[in-house]
Amino acid sequence: MTDDLTNAASIEAADQQYVMRPWPHPAGEPVIIAKASGCTITDIHGKEYLDLTAGYFVNNAGHCHPRIVEAATKQLHQVLQVSGKHGTVAVVKLAKRLIELGPKSLNKVFFSTGGSEANEFALKLARQGTKKTDVAYLENGYHGLTIGALEVTASEKYRESAGKPMGPENYAIPNAYCYRCKFSPDSCATQCLDGVEATLDARPKTAAIIAEIIQAVGGLAPPQKWWDRVDKIRKARGILLIADEVQTGLGRTGKMFAVEHYGLEPEIMTGGKGLSGGVGSLAATIASDALVKNFFGGTTPTNGGNAVSAAAGLALIETLEAEKLVDHCATMGRYFTEAAWALRDPWIGVVRFTGLLGGIELVANRDSKEVLGKGAIAKIKDGLHAAGMLITISGLYGNCLRLQPPLSVTPAQIDQFIGALRTVLNSVRSAS
Ligand SMILES: Cc1ncc(COP(=O)(O)O)c(C=O)c1O
Repeated sequence: MTDDLTNAASIEAADQQYVMRPWPHPAGEPVIIAKASGCTITDIHGKEYLDLTAGYFVNNAGHCHPRIVEAATKQLHQVLQVSGKHGTVAVVKLAKRLIELGPKSLNKVFFSTGGSEANEFALKLARQGTKKTDVAYLENGYHGLTIGALEVTASEKYRESAGKPMGPENYAIPNAYCYRCKFSPDSCATQCLDGVEATLDARPKTAAIIAEIIQAVGGLAPPQKWWDRVDKIRKARGILLIADEVQTGLGRTGKMFAVEHYGLEPEIMTGGKGLSGGVGSLAATIASDALVKNFFGGTTPTNGGNAVSAAAGLALIETLEAEKLVDHCATMGRYFTEAAWALRDPWIGVVRFTGLLGGIELVANRDSKEVLGKGAIAKIKDGLHAAGMLITISGLYGNCLRLQPPLSVTPAQIDQFIGALRTVLNSVRSAS
């Protein structure tokens, strides 16, 4: 007998039986979502959540934005997918827009289907272009979980998931975790970078440094002088910069791309997540003419550059511009920061937002910065979830509340979250 999955209980049972999710669920998850609009999602029980994950940092203009839905629907009646050897008007228009908006060092766009794939293509491009093999990545960096992207993703836990040792060509260099600076936290002299010249000199086969310009894991934004120094070091050695803007791109940090915060001009930039406007999956590797000229192939993602996703992505960019959402995002990041500090909660160690990338790092002790224990973090996450706040936990030590709603979030919605956070922090503390 077939179950037609018409009620919430049978849908959840079928989800458990048939859908693979290779990680454990916190309480109340997975949420099976029936509809979504703006910053709000509604599950199959009718419970509403404020989505502080923006569908995993994809729906930058909010869920089901009418302009995006309309553009995608219109495209559905024209053409859907064609081979990457050919093209569609939507893809050409999106490529042009990305080149106009991105740093002037970049000239051409290659479309694929996901952030990991975009980064793998970037690695190939860098290796082919320089005829060198090695790539440096930042500690705490995240570039995806396919095997090539894992080679430059820092987390040991993730690297082990490949079931094989990672190749020796790629290696980590320090990132800037200023809140936990081991050198001089009050007057940065970029001491964390002191060994980097020597490391790079010992690895003359280094083709590129791949980096999130602001790290999504924990929302770590280095000071200007840190990026200035890295940029100078790498340029002096002819090493390419691959800027991974998969999460930071398209307005998330309060600028269209995070490179703009520092005036960086990478030779390669990658993007994904919001690029599809939430319709299907679309990612991009954007490169300088010099690199594109030398590229001799080896990548043909069958579904790269879907026309409907591209039309929706274009509509996303139009929406960001028409509704001034990038500036709004910068303002909301500041609002969120002030509102979180105003709680004066003893567990709030630091509030770190660049635009709406980042969140709150929780500590057991503000002086020693001892990380708040996993048990308390889990209870806080569960309490927020029960209160209708959809968030994720992030950070090198798993103690950051990652708070990244759609860029259209309002002050009232942020206040609503802050009110829930106040109650949950107090109740978890008094029960501990
Ligand atoms: C910075 C960054 N790079 C790459 C990726 C991988 O993207 P995808 O999951 O689409 O493969 C992500 C995804 O979270 C990301 O945040």
